[in-house]
Amino acid sequence: MQSAQASFENIRKDFPILERTVRENKTLVYLDNASTTQKPNQVIDAINDYYRNHNANIHRAVYALAEEATELYEKSRDKVANFINVKNRVEVIFVRGTTEAINLVAYAWGRDNLKEDDIIVTTEYEHHSNIVPWQLLTREKGAKLEYIGMNDNGELNLDDLDKYLATGKVKLVTFSLVSNVLGTISDAETIISKCKAAGVLTLVDGAQAVPHMKVDVEKLGCDFFAFSGHKMLGPTGIGILWVRKSILETMNPFHGGGDMIREVHKYETTWNDLPYKFEAGTPNIADVVGLGAAIDYLSNIGMDVIRQHEIDLTSYALDKLSQVKGLRIYGTKDISKRGGVISFNFADVHPHDVAQIIDEEGIAIRSGHHCAQVLMERLNVAATSRASFYIYNTKEEIDALINSLNKVARIFKL
Ligand code: ALA
Repeated sequence: MQSAQASFENIRKDFPILERTVRENKTLVYLDNASTTQKPNQVIDAINDYYRNHNANIHRAVYALAEEATELYEKSRDKVANFINVKNRVEVIFVRGTTEAINLVAYAWGRDNLKEDDIIVTTEYEHHSNIVPWQLLTREKGAKLEYIGMNDNGELNLDDLDKYLATGKVKLVTFSLVSNVLGTISDAETIISKCKAAGVLTLVDGAQAVPHMKVDVEKLGCDFFAFSGHKMLGPTGIGILWVRKSILETMNPFHGGGDMIREVHKYETTWNDLPYKFEAGTPNIADVVGLGAAIDYLSNIGMDVIRQHEIDLTSYALDKLSQVKGLRIYGTKDISKRGGVISFNFADVHPHDVAQIIDEEGIAIRSGHHCAQVLMERLNVAATSRASFYIYNTKEEIDALINSLNKVARIFKL
């Protein structure tokens, strides 16, 4: 039997981009996986095969190619449902990504269910995509947006949630399952059970969780769940919104157009069945097929194996980084509560300078506010540097990161 280390080395061979060099002939070390992941041959080939051999519009025509394209598209829906343990496939809606998924809920559910003085609760560590749609909605409705704060370990302060729930005015609580900046794994079980007890709906942003650990939507018990394909080896421009059927059935459409209708007359229209009512126009067929291939790839490895690999890498990186003088790491040190994301600041060197010097060594990390300016304000920083890991990363790459940080220290005489 192959050792886990050996099989992860084989995984790297599936990713052509990892073979290229950057800058002055430096081996690429890609550590920006929270932003987007690289794509294996299996995903690239599935998209290529779709366009070469099966391309046609779906749900519309009776000829052979149209049937094949429709079958591939719908098969991916089944793969998604299976991957996150959704029992009823009609609850799986294809959208462009997590951002569109949350906007869909804010628009198609929020506009009919929120009134003046109602409250939407989000958290201080949300990405902008789980803040701005709620600002737009609450502003329009004269409702309020409130935040669950966090402690200095980057964990949510659930007393805040209790306080808001006690008002009886909360209509929805929304939170990331894993923070894109701190890597904190939210205590979803407690949040959702508190909300259920109060009769309040929950939306979980799973963008940073689904690629990295087993997620079971049935077990979570939330009402809305969103994630993106491109952060889990799939193509850009495809994502998923899952909505519990009893809620989805009450929701008006988000976009109007082809495929989402049953009959259109001059002044009235009736809607198609679920999930098509929420998939107007020609969808992103090729990328849905690519996402299906990504799910096959991850399933073949096993999500528990992937999570363990990331625990190993993140523990190793936290240990090495904490030995770098002047480096401040944000978030919890408890690896059971943390995904493979590490944000840090290095003395008073600006994160963009850190990233630029590191880039000269071929190492890609993200620097900036990570689309989480509310969190930056809470941390009292303008920006951070962020390294984030995935299945193809190795301990040698983390060593390379540490070496390049030593170069930053030398340049800035830290
Ligand atoms: N959400 C992406 C990130 O965290 C863009 O980098």
